[in-house]
Amino acid sequence: MKEKDKNQLQTLYTAEQIQTRVQEIAKVLSEDLAGKRVVAVAVMKGSFRFYCDLLLNMSIDVICDFCACSSYGLRDKPSTEIRLQLDIQSDVQDKHVILIEDIIDRGITVHTILEHIKARKPKSITVVSLLQKQDQLIEKDLKIDHVGFIVKDDPFIVGYGLDYQEKYRQLSYIATISNS
Ligand code: IMP
Ligand code: MG
Repeated sequence: MKEKDKNQLQTLYTAEQIQTRVQEIAKVLSEDLAGKRVVAVAVMKGSFRFYCDLLLNMSIDVICDFCACSSYGLRDKPSTEIRLQLDIQSDVQDKHVILIEDIIDRGITVHTILEHIKARKPKSITVVSLLQKQDQLIEKDLKIDHVGFIVKDDPFIVGYGLDYQEKYRQLSYIATISNS
């Protein structure tokens, strides 16, 4: 059997559901940050689709920037060691940062990046994540401002930027993945 046949995908959120939610979040961000100097930071690679659609639907000017962390690797071996692989290039001092992530699970990735950006003295940081896994946070003090969808039961999620072993990022929908 070919490898692609072993992974079962089940749609969790359709492309239409995602776009509707993205538009809602984009509207709130545009209202909240109107007239301010804003730097929108994507956590690569997983947030690239969400980031583009969010910015396309926002009515304010933003400076685009990117950062990347070492990621999970294999599903059954989650790492607590997060390493910054790509740092932001912009000067965020006295500016308003929007940190845009694909999914918050234990919160370690966003927490690590937040602390790093805070040290650069921005005026504010707004944390936005497309997805959050319910009841998984170990970084209890983490303030998450906007979440697209809360996912129950800790499944593994792919699509719309999210990967399993670097696959499925190109899907327009979000799915759970399981091996059969
Ligand atoms: P955290 O640091 O535990 O919050 O994990 C968040 C990071 O792990 C995200 O940036 C993703 O790269 C990755 N991750 C966690 N859960 C999933 C998932 O279900 N699908 C794809 N990536 C995930
Ligand atoms: Mg990620």
